[in-house]
Amino acid sequence: MGIWRYDGKRRPTSRTRKERTVQPVGVDMGELRGTHVPVLLERCLELLAPALGRDGRTVHVDATLGLAGHAEAVLEAHPNTVLVGLDRDTEALAHARVRLARFADRIHLEHAVYDELPEVLDRLGYPEIDGVLFDLGVSSLQLDAPDRGFAYAQDAPLDMRMDQTRGVTAEEVVNSYSHPDLARVLRVYGEEKFAGKIASAIIREREKGRITSSARLAELVRESIPAPARRTGGHPAKRTFQALRIEVNRELAALETALPAALDQLSVGGRMVVLSYHSLEDRLTKHALADRVRSKGPIDLPVELPGSGPTFRLLSRGAELPGDAEVAANPRAASVRLRAAERLDPNAEQQGRTDRERYRRRVKAMHQPGTGSTTGAGAAPAATPRDGSGTDEEGEGTHER
Ligand SMILES: C[S@@+](CC[C@H](N)C(=O)[O-])C[C@H]1O[C@@H](n2cnc3c(N)ncnc32)[C@H](O)[C@@H]1O
Repeated sequence: MGIWRYDGKRRPTSRTRKERTVQPVGVDMGELRGTHVPVLLERCLELLAPALGRDGRTVHVDATLGLAGHAEAVLEAHPNTVLVGLDRDTEALAHARVRLARFADRIHLEHAVYDELPEVLDRLGYPEIDGVLFDLGVSSLQLDAPDRGFAYAQDAPLDMRMDQTRGVTAEEVVNSYSHPDLARVLRVYGEEKFAGKIASAIIREREKGRITSSARLAELVRESIPAPARRTGGHPAKRTFQALRIEVNRELAALETALPAALDQLSVGGRMVVLSYHSLEDRLTKHALADRVRSKGPIDLPVELPGSGPTFRLLSRGAELPGDAEVAANPRAASVRLRAAERLDPNAEQQGRTDRERYRRRVKAMHQPGTGSTTGAGAAPAATPRDGSGTDEEGEGTHER
């Protein structure tokens, strides 16, 4: 889940939905800005700087603009950078517009789902971009809003749409999905062990009447979970609410399309940074990057065939975790996983970072005296990863820290 922290005393005041969605004027940005802590900000800036700080105008996409904490820092650090900021939440866009007002001549803030990025860039006339950031999930602006239904701790209509202008609500999901579909959503997106029991309770309850409130749903979930299990793992409804939110907003389907599309738009030397807060988000990111950092040619050829080499290099080693200080200052950062990559120049000689180089080094090592190897020169080492999944875990990635 995305991380915006409020200090308790300075929570945003409750406004009506109409005011929040259609009236950027009057948004109290000072109040929100003072309490919002962008996650892994320094690390994101460090990773993006070589791409955005190049000579001439550079273009940065913030695919999840939110309250524009990351975006503001990027614009401050890079006076020649144009920002394209996307958010599917009109309220977030209204806040961001106020916060970024002083950069008005070099920002484009767009109401869009991030899988619409290619069309947005096409419309704005930016065929290539230099940086892109995904800070995934839901924000505290959304979580803390008393009337949007994301939070199990506050009673509200079961909405949970990040974009309140379109799409199905959590109420529609809860009251119309079949038992198998409800159980699948809760099990897969919420990793909920009692998905079947909760789905059965929902079906029984809705036979009596429509389930319309987050408090009623939270209570149903609590009652469905055996008492000993209720005492561990936080609030019993946490996983169900997370699962419904992911389903309502089609979060994983949008991400699966958006990541390759954003990678395709990056210029040579351009960089992507992704902050995930859910294991499925991180897995999609890992696979999207693995597909680009591996060689597509036969592994046992001594040279790369034209067009078959890796198109990206990893900038993170595995998934980077937050430091203790970051988590202490910003507890919601605890679950973040960062991955980053840079587009390679197809004409440049790549230096010892590809699968092929690793393969060569391993074969060479096998023939060193004392390795005990009897393998022939052309045999592939048994554990050479071919899906790219191991390339960032081996200590041979390009970790820049
Ligand atoms: C964690 S917040 C981003 C916070 C931001 N980095 C900052 O510093 O303020 C995530 C934002 O992404 C938006 N979002 C989530 N999924 C989206 C999607 N598929 N397309 C566009 N925006 C999305 C949410 O509405 C939310 O405002």
